[in-house]
Amino acid sequence: MKNILLVGGTGFVGSHVCEKLVRQGWHVTVPTRRLSNARQLLPLPLVTLLELDVHDEAALLRAVAGHDAVVNLVAILHGTQAAFEKVHVALPQKLARACIAAHIKQLVHVSALGADAQHPESAPSMYLRSKGQGEAALMQAAGIGAAAAFDLTILRPSVIFGAEDKFLNLFARLQTVFPLMPLARADARFQPVWVQDVAAAVVRSLERDGTVSVANTPRIVEACGPDVFTLKELVQLAAQLSGIRKGRGRPVISLPLWMGRLQARLMELAPGEPLMSRDNLDSMQRDNVASGTLPGLQSLGIAPAALRPIAAEYLKRK
Ligand SMILES: NC(=O)c1ccc[n+]([C@@H]2O[C@H](COP(=O)([O-])OP(=O)(O)OC[C@H]3O[C@@H](n4cnc5c(N)ncnc54)[C@H](OP(=O)(O)O)[C@@H]3O)[C@@H](O)[C@H]2O)c1
Repeated sequence: MKNILLVGGTGFVGSHVCEKLVRQGWHVTVPTRRLSNARQLLPLPLVTLLELDVHDEAALLRAVAGHDAVVNLVAILHGTQAAFEKVHVALPQKLARACIAAHIKQLVHVSALGADAQHPESAPSMYLRSKGQGEAALMQAAGIGAAAAFDLTILRPSVIFGAEDKFLNLFARLQTVFPLMPLARADARFQPVWVQDVAAAVVRSLERDGTVSVANTPRIVEACGPDVFTLKELVQLAAQLSGIRKGRGRPVISLPLWMGRLQARLMELAPGEPLMSRDNLDSMQRDNVASGTLPGLQSLGIAPAALRPIAAEYLKRK
């Protein structure tokens, strides 16, 4: 039985990873800022919840100690430069230091497609730049070859779909409310991947024996589905699969970039999490599709599922 520390285990992907890990018979510790964020994990056996500020390095070190491996799924989609650096760069650095201090041999880090650890500054948005910097920090801390401090796997998913996703569900919901869908970067391309496939990739990565494969670290895997869609196609598909206006959905109006930025700025000013930020638009300057030069899910023995039949199931229900 393995003991896994699942940081970010209360989120969309984390909840699925947690389920799969306990199904393996492994024990999972899930730190969370608020226990109420972990309600969905309460019915699972073999899970210990820990109310913790993961940014407190001393507390993090205590949480890491005694585990066989650590998984990091913590991320934010919106925020200031300082917030992105805190969550996507400083936290991975703290996790790496904690792993080394506690002699943890394996770390699986979920990043994002479009992050570039070699040239983080070349990425078009704060989100992607900080994701690349976080990867680079982990790679440096892990080291390579026989001297590697820990076995590192970095997973880079494209946008993730699943019953609780925040993109197809959102596109469908918006079309029940608004008569038109004004969209900037409508031609941006994505290769959506199923949440269960991403969760399976985390488990497969943990199954590999860190002591045998350290010479190959770090391993970067791009987690993409089998099909590529533009943003406009995804908006239309969400309407079609949820039967909005008999599947016709709302007309999608392509906005020029300046108008899209204005729209995003207004959304940022609204209370709560913005539906879209200017930084999100910046991320879309880079197509969110597999590079073709890095291994994909197949390298972990996973045949990624197609979006259409799975999304049809949950969008129809809602
Ligand atoms: N969803 C996607 O489409 C997508 C696409 C590409 C990459 N990814 C990557 O996949 C990973 C998981 O994504 P997800 O969609 O599952 O994210 P999520 O649902 O937003 O969950 C994020 C987790 O991070 C924790 N968290 C959020 N903000 C935090 C902060 N400021 N300080 C400490 N903890 C914080 C939350 O824990 P508590 O609230 O319990 O503390 C939560 O468990 C992330 O690395 C993300 O970048 C996701």
